[in-house]
Amino acid sequence: MSMKLRRLPRAATAGLVAAAALTAAAHSAEAADTLGSAAAGQGRYFGTAVAASHLGEADYTATLDREFSSVTPENEMKWDATEPSRGTFTFTSADRIVDHAQSRGMDVRGHTLVWHSQLPSWVSSLGASGLRTAMKDHINGLMGHYKGEIHSWDVVNEAFQDGGSGARRSSPFQDKLGDGFIEEAFRTARAADPAAKLCYNDYNTDGVNAKSDAVYTMVKDFKSRGVPIDCVGFQSHFNSNSPVPSDYRQNLQRFADLGVDVQITELDIEGSGSAQAADYRKVVEACLAVDRCTGMTVWGVTDKYSWRSGGTPLLFDGNYQEKPAYDAVLSALGGSDGPGDPGDPGDPGDATVTCTATYTRTADWNSGYNGQVTITAGDEPVSAWTVTVTLPAQQSVSSLWNGTPTWSGNVMTVRPSWNGTLAAGASTGFGFTAAKNGSDAAPTLGTCTAS
Ligand code: G3I
Repeated sequence: MSMKLRRLPRAATAGLVAAAALTAAAHSAEAADTLGSAAAGQGRYFGTAVAASHLGEADYTATLDREFSSVTPENEMKWDATEPSRGTFTFTSADRIVDHAQSRGMDVRGHTLVWHSQLPSWVSSLGASGLRTAMKDHINGLMGHYKGEIHSWDVVNEAFQDGGSGARRSSPFQDKLGDGFIEEAFRTARAADPAAKLCYNDYNTDGVNAKSDAVYTMVKDFKSRGVPIDCVGFQSHFNSNSPVPSDYRQNLQRFADLGVDVQITELDIEGSGSAQAADYRKVVEACLAVDRCTGMTVWGVTDKYSWRSGGTPLLFDGNYQEKPAYDAVLSALGGSDGPGDPGDPGDPGDATVTCTATYTRTADWNSGYNGQVTITAGDEPVSAWTVTVTLPAQQSVSSLWNGTPTWSGNVMTVRPSWNGTLAAGASTGFGFTAAKNGSDAAPTLGTCTAS
C-alpha cells in the first residue's frame, strides 16, 4: 500500500480548527454577513460540496472562501477516486481540497467510505472474505491519511432501499457480508480515527417514512449495543417530486433523541425566486430548532456546477450572484447582508462584472460562412468585454464588424469597437466572414470576460 503522509500532524490541525472557530466567532461579533459567520453565531457550521477541478476559478474560490466554514469533497474522497486499484491510494485531488480548506480555516467533512456507487469493479468482484478485508483496508487507508483532519465522516452511505419495505439495498457489501457490514464499518472507523464523528448518510430519509424508520431502528440498535455511531446525515435533495417534508424537524428531532448528532449533508432545492427561498428557510429553521443539528452543507457553490444544474438548486447563480434563497438562509441564520456586499445582484459595490457569449452561423455557402457572436452582460453593467474565438486550423477570417480583433495563430481575441458599454442584462455582438478552406467545423468560443 503506498500512502502519502499528510503534511500537517494532528496537533497542528487541531490548532487550525480552533483558529477557524475563533475567526468565525470574531466575524459574527462584528456583523454576521456571510453564511459561515452567521451559522457560527448559532453554534453551527455552514458548508458546501467542493470539486477540486473548480478551485482554479477565481470567482468560485472567492465565494467559497468568503461564505463557507466547512467543505465536503464532492467526488474526490470516494472509493473510485482514492483506491482505483487494490492497495494503491491516490489522494492528490482530495488533498487539494483539504489543503485549501485548512489554509482558509474551514473544516472538512469526509464523504464517503463505504458506498455501492462509484465503487471500482475490483471491489465488486471480490468474494466475502476478500471484500471484508478490502473494506477495512479502505477505511483504514482513508481515515489514516486524514487522521485528525476530518470533523465528520460518512462511514456508510445509502445502504437502505427506497420504497415502503425498509429493506437494505442490494450491494456487494450487503449481498456478500449481510446486515453486519455496517456495524463492521463503524467499528473499524472508530479505531482508525477516534476523534472523527462517525455518520450514517442517506437520502429520502428526511421525513418520517418507511426508509427513515428503518435507519432509525438501526441507529437505535447501534446505540443500545454500543456500536460506535455519532451522527446521522440527511442528504436533503429536494424538488417538486420530493419536497421539503412537513415533518422534517420532527424527524431530525427523533434521531437526535436517540443520542446522535444530526447533520444536513447535501442540501439542494430545485426552483427559483421566493418559493425556493421559502423552502431553504424551512430547512435552516428546522436545523436550528434541533439542538443536536450541528450543521448544514449545500451540495455545491454555484448552480452552474450542480449535479442538478438544470434545476438551479443552489444559493448562488451561475455568475456567483446571491439568489433570494441566499438571503433567506442568511436571515434564517440571524445574519444580514450589508449593502454593496460582493455577490449582491445590481449592487454598485459588487466587483463581479460578468458576461456570456453565444455563437450562431447566420449564413452559409460552399466556400465560407458568416458567424455572429452575441455578448450579454450579467447582473452588473459592463464597460468593456473580451471574448476569444478559436477557428479550425484551415479556416481564415476575411472581415469582421462591430468588434476589434487581435490574432494569435487561429485564435482571435475580440474586444469592442464602439459597443463596449452594456446595461445589466443587455446584449451586443460582432459578426465575421470566414473562408472554410475545406473545413466546415464551427469555431469555439472561450469564456467572455468583462469589466
Ligand atoms: O471526472 C469525469 C470526467 O473526466 C468525465 O469526462 C465525465 C464524463 O461523464 O465524468 C466525470 O465524472 C463525473 C463526476 O461526477 C465528476 O463530475 C461522473 O461521470 C459523475 O457520475 C459524477 O457524478 C457525481 C455523482 O455523485 C455520482 O454518483 C456528482 O458529481 C455528485 O454530486 C454526486 O453526489 C452524490 C453523493 O455523493 C451521494 N448522494 C447523492 C449525490 C447526488 O447524486
